[in-house]
Amino acid sequence: MKIFIDTANIDEIRDAATLGVIDGVTTNPSLIAKEGKKLEDVIVDICNLVDGPISGEIKATTTKWEDMVAEGKEIAKLHKNMVVKIPMTKDGIIAVKELTKLGIKTNVTLIFSVNQALLAAKAGATYVSPFVGRLDDISEDGINLIYDIVDVFTNYDIKTEIIAASIRHPMHAVECAKAGADIATIPYKVLMQMIKHPLTDQGIEKFVNDYKKVFG
Ligand code: E4P
Repeated sequence: MKIFIDTANIDEIRDAATLGVIDGVTTNPSLIAKEGKKLEDVIVDICNLVDGPISGEIKATTTKWEDMVAEGKEIAKLHKNMVVKIPMTKDGIIAVKELTKLGIKTNVTLIFSVNQALLAAKAGATYVSPFVGRLDDISEDGINLIYDIVDVFTNYDIKTEIIAASIRHPMHAVECAKAGADIATIPYKVLMQMIKHPLTDQGIEKFVNDYKKVFG
């Protein structure tokens, strides 16, 4: 499973990138707003830190497909690794089809059902982003959606890649990997939690103490 980092914070991306295991970056309007900077002002720095697909979402206020296409073309021009993130709406699907014709990569976001994933894939989406955590938030099984989309895409040999999004804790990452998600996009905090295990910390402490007893 590829790992993307789900943040627009440059310090988090820089630190995560030093691990050498980050394959891409996803942002969304909320994450961009949190940084207080416009997408175009942070994206070049992000692209310089991670050499992989970088999802930049169209403005939250852009709703018509013609405007989505125009904005998508501008986002794609920012860097060769840019992927245009488009919400799963009727206009969004049309925009994805048009951007695909132009050879521009897309990530259809806010996916909450297999039908939405299927339609996005049929429109030519490079990626679909089903939101695991937000389904769990309303007592629906987010991981089950990943299993179902993997099943359907496998049935029809659909090349659209599945980015498991809205990952809230390390077990989400484990379950997404078991379900066969192509990618999980993971917040910095969860990525750091994935590194840790209390027995690793205890083991290191014991090795240090045993070593020092004999060798000082
Ligand atoms: C990434 O593509 C999504 O926008 C993000 O994972 C959403 O996460 P959240 O549900 O924790 O806001």
